[in-house]
Amino acid sequence: MGAVNTDNVPELRKAVVRLTRERDAAQKEARELSRAIQNMAQPPLLVAQVSRVLSKNYAIVRTPNSQEFLVPHPNFELSAGDTVALNQNTLAIVKILPSNIDAFVASMELDEKPRETYEDIGGLREILQDIREVVELPLIHPEVFTKMGIEPPAGVLLEGPPGTGKTLVARAVANATHATFIRLVGSELVQKFIGEGARIVREIFALAREKSPSILFIDEIDAVASRRTPDSQVSDREVQRTLMQLLSELDGFNQIKGVKVLAASNRPDILDPAILRPGRFDRIIHFSLPEEKDRGEILKIHTRRMPLRNVDLNHLAKITDGMSGADIRGMCTEAAMFAIRGALDYITEAQFIQAMSKLKKDHLEQKPHNLYM
Ligand SMILES: Nc1ncnc2c1ncn2[C@@H]1O[C@H](COP(=O)(O)OP(=O)(O)OP(=O)(O)O)[C@@H](O)[C@H]1O
Ligand SMILES: [Mg+2]
Repeated sequence: MGAVNTDNVPELRKAVVRLTRERDAAQKEARELSRAIQNMAQPPLLVAQVSRVLSKNYAIVRTPNSQEFLVPHPNFELSAGDTVALNQNTLAIVKILPSNIDAFVASMELDEKPRETYEDIGGLREILQDIREVVELPLIHPEVFTKMGIEPPAGVLLEGPPGTGKTLVARAVANATHATFIRLVGSELVQKFIGEGARIVREIFALAREKSPSILFIDEIDAVASRRTPDSQVSDREVQRTLMQLLSELDGFNQIKGVKVLAASNRPDILDPAILRPGRFDRIIHFSLPEEKDRGEILKIHTRRMPLRNVDLNHLAKITDGMSGADIRGMCTEAAMFAIRGALDYITEAQFIQAMSKLKKDHLEQKPHNLYM
């Protein structure tokens, strides 16, 4: 080390403060990421029913394929009929599942009254027209189809890149038809509750009937309905069983009025062709990234409650090529954040530009695998 130049001390101090802050932020992020990794690395648990409690530490459980096992547990307060989660390898009971939120409820979302309306959707004109024809019309006026001697389309598959409004559209249709919105997530179905997939599918269709008029929205359907690949992680037979159940529910479904099934996928290319056969998801609606005009509408929607000053939305629409609806919404939120940090009580175009370059940077860092970016 040479002689220290004391002139630099204040600047070096500042640098230390800045670097310390950066280090803390990075450490926090590292902690969050490692927690996420831990969560992902956890093997899925097996769900079973307690059929008899033998002693303080042993019970007989019945797994969904009706096999019975004598398994240990760490002195849980168990009683026959409880639903429990088992370690996949040792079959030891690791958790008692609360009876009112069993696997069935945990893997879906039920919304009696979604708030999204058609006014919240920018662009997507043709899509909305299609959707209303195949979903809204049969729900509200089934007689139109009977009069013409045809069956309305069975299921509708919404496919397209992330953030292009698939879920938004499904929720808005449910709102417009006063239908209950039931969302089932494919990946959760097969990853979280092994052995329960088929039962959950059965029960959820029953629930959709009970709550009719209803829209059953199966998100990430590729997780249950993809062509088998050699590297698939989750037990193939389990996924296959869930899919068979789904197909048989769909087949018996056409006659049931008042329930519409929608599914969404980012990867239609990997879907099992069985799911697309006539009478199943026989109508495919393609979502794509918004064009300039649509981006303008989306911008207008997401800035409608913002105090804007000298913001040319048309110009922003022009320069946001390649961004999805979700990206645009993110940009608007971020622009407002920049205004808050700058202690402004209004938002100018400069904040939007700042937000845009931040999002671009984040995208480059975080989404190297994204198919559509
Ligand atoms: N066309 C649009 N108009 C207005 N807002 C939109 C539009 N598309 C997306 N958004 C905004 O982005 C959010 C996320 O969109 P949404 O969840 O519908 O995307 P998605 O297509 O279902 O994506 P994923 O494939 O990731 O599930 C919406 O809640 C909405 O705020
Ligand atoms: Mg979605």
